[in-house]
Amino acid sequence: MNFAVLASGKGSNLKAMIDAIRNGQIKAELKVVISDKKEAFCLEHARKALIPAIFIDPKDFKDREAFDKAVIDCLVKHQVDFVVLAGYMRLLSSFFLKQYPNKVLNIHPALLPSFKGTHAIQEAFDYGVKLTGPTVHFVTEAMDEGPIILQEAIEIKPKDTLESMAEKIHNAEHKIYPQAIDLFVRGKLKVEGRKVIVL
Ligand code: GAR
Repeated sequence: MNFAVLASGKGSNLKAMIDAIRNGQIKAELKVVISDKKEAFCLEHARKALIPAIFIDPKDFKDREAFDKAVIDCLVKHQVDFVVLAGYMRLLSSFFLKQYPNKVLNIHPALLPSFKGTHAIQEAFDYGVKLTGPTVHFVTEAMDEGPIILQEAIEIKPKDTLESMAEKIHNAEHKIYPQAIDLFVRGKLKVEGRKVIVL
């Protein structure tokens, strides 16, 4: 199977996937990394691993769907079977999701459905949660709402700071995202309504 990663940021999850491909945990080929941010470090991780790294500028398109069409053209060109979002800070259009139904995965740095959105770690910290952790889910049109594949709960201790809590969450992300991708690649995930059955 071939996949693409869409990312907007520093790319630590992308790096974890590249490592998981190298060590044989993920048996799929990462064909292309696409970013909507020209200077995003994720593109650097891709280049270092000799994976095509492509910047597509949202400013060149009249709306979200036109931008997504350009992304889809790139995915088709690289014969991509499924798509992995890794810190991709854009909502996908219904046009995009129709091309890849139940074939787009995302990671979110909180235990969904708590703390959806772009400031999940800060909001969970400010709320004073005792448990938090990342969620891997299938992407649907509503933000951070698709069927849940894997979650990992992390205990927050009184001495934890925002930084130490973020570090624990990121470490857990780098563990469960490759696990979820491996399950998907091996055909072990069956979606039934909101539920994902691990076969
Ligand atoms: C990750 O923590 C991911 O959970 C989060 O962006 C970060 C990307 O880090 N995604 C979201 O908040 C999506 N709502 P990375 O660029 O180092 O992989």
